[in-house]
Amino acid sequence: MPRTRLMARLRPKLTGAAERSLKAVPFVRARLEREYAKLIAGMEPRLKPYRGEVAAQTRLPAAGRSREEILQEMRALSERERSRWHDGFVSGTVYIGDDGHAGFMNQVYGLSSQTNPLHSDVWPSITKYESEIVAMTASMLGGDAAPGVCGVVTSGGTESLLLAMKTYRDWGRATRGVRRPEVIAPSTAHPAFDKAAECFGIRLTRVPVGGDLRADVDATRQAIGRNTVALVGSAPTFPHGVVDPIQQLSDLARARGLGFHTDACMGGFILPWVRTLGYPVPEFDFRLPGVTSISADTHKFGLAAKGTSVVLYRDVELRRHQYFVATDWPGGLYCSPTLAGSRPGGLIAACWAAMVATGEEGYLESTRRVMETAAEIRRGVESIPELRVIGDPLWIVAFASRSLDVYRVLDRMASGGWGMIGLQRPPALHFCVTPRHAQPGVAERFVSDLRDAVAGVKAHPKEKGAMAPVYGTAATMPFRGIVGDILERYMDLLYEP
Ligand SMILES: Cc1ncc(COP(=O)(O)O)c(C=O)c1O
Repeated sequence: MPRTRLMARLRPKLTGAAERSLKAVPFVRARLEREYAKLIAGMEPRLKPYRGEVAAQTRLPAAGRSREEILQEMRALSERERSRWHDGFVSGTVYIGDDGHAGFMNQVYGLSSQTNPLHSDVWPSITKYESEIVAMTASMLGGDAAPGVCGVVTSGGTESLLLAMKTYRDWGRATRGVRRPEVIAPSTAHPAFDKAAECFGIRLTRVPVGGDLRADVDATRQAIGRNTVALVGSAPTFPHGVVDPIQQLSDLARARGLGFHTDACMGGFILPWVRTLGYPVPEFDFRLPGVTSISADTHKFGLAAKGTSVVLYRDVELRRHQYFVATDWPGGLYCSPTLAGSRPGGLIAACWAAMVATGEEGYLESTRRVMETAAEIRRGVESIPELRVIGDPLWIVAFASRSLDVYRVLDRMASGGWGMIGLQRPPALHFCVTPRHAQPGVAERFVSDLRDAVAGVKAHPKEKGAMAPVYGTAATMPFRGIVGDILERYMDLLYEP
């Protein structure tokens, strides 16, 4: 086993063992729980603003409440939350920039909220929409050069990645007899790959990225072992918005007889148009002969309602490894293409409607607006001497600082309503521009608030901030189990009424 690979596996195991021994000491355990409780209590006001203000419904009402009253209550909460996402204060998150388009999605969903493609004989229209979403996406992503390209519609980027990984596991077993499948991914690839590894019994090897934050092809080559079934790259990565060297990685995969997945969840519905607009975009799709699957999220830059994504495969044989069939169940013959059984046909219908209502011209125009806004934001960040843009961003602008704690900048931005993403390794922040931010004045307001936030952090060096200590500690803490404990307790809090 190459040395780098061995060290990468050994280090977390050693710190993990040390951490488990420490946690076994009752005093340490109790102290940790007290610290966790304090941290979680600090998050409560922001995550549970309705506590004590709006009655919690913790039991079914004896008799159903009136629809009018319910709508009134729900409209009020929705109205309170509207400005932050609607007026462009939040990174990524909401991709539809046009309220008319969003209203149209709702109308289409209303037409088909009862539909379910599991019963394709009852709703052949939904099956028609799904097959056409796949065909349109394939044709946009180099499918014209690879006529066998096929796919399915899933519930989101994570499910698309889970399914692609399950497919490579089963393909590796069926075609090469691999019993302990491994997948190699850059450190920046989305955590859905770890989730897939956990769910499907795959070993995921993470390879550190190079100084340009892109996947390191040589290190990937070194990490390939006899159980490797697939390599992965992102177009672009979530943290820094850079496109991995997909051509070199997929050539490597092809030369070794491996699968290659391009995670274009973020970029699938925008990179083709970024290229048409004349920006330099390296090849990432089926035009590259080594690319055997791609995920592309319709619920991001595809401008569909939340809850859909597409996973594409180079040919139907590969896609068959994704399917599930049960031939002996007393309930009858059963088959299902994705993780879910029943699926919301209304979301598939809305996705199809979003794509045909937007068309090539619509995607090109919304991409132009996103890219112009991102360039304005990038110029603004570059004009602040304390900040340094990292990578070579397209529409996700990531930046770090040599002189300031960026997490304190994050806190100050948050108190002005901005929702930015805190990155780690290296500590940085990012803002993912969507059509929501292309509204007049948003980029200007962002840059001016960022400038003020940086000045504020410099002027108040002792100020702690709400999240900065959490991010700071989490970023440097060697005991990742403790960071994981905090995240679990955060999720526990979400489920408290
Ligand atoms: C590159 C990339 N892959 C996968 C995902 C996961 O997508 P989802 O949140 O829809 O599951 C994201 C989400 O931002 C992403 O940016």
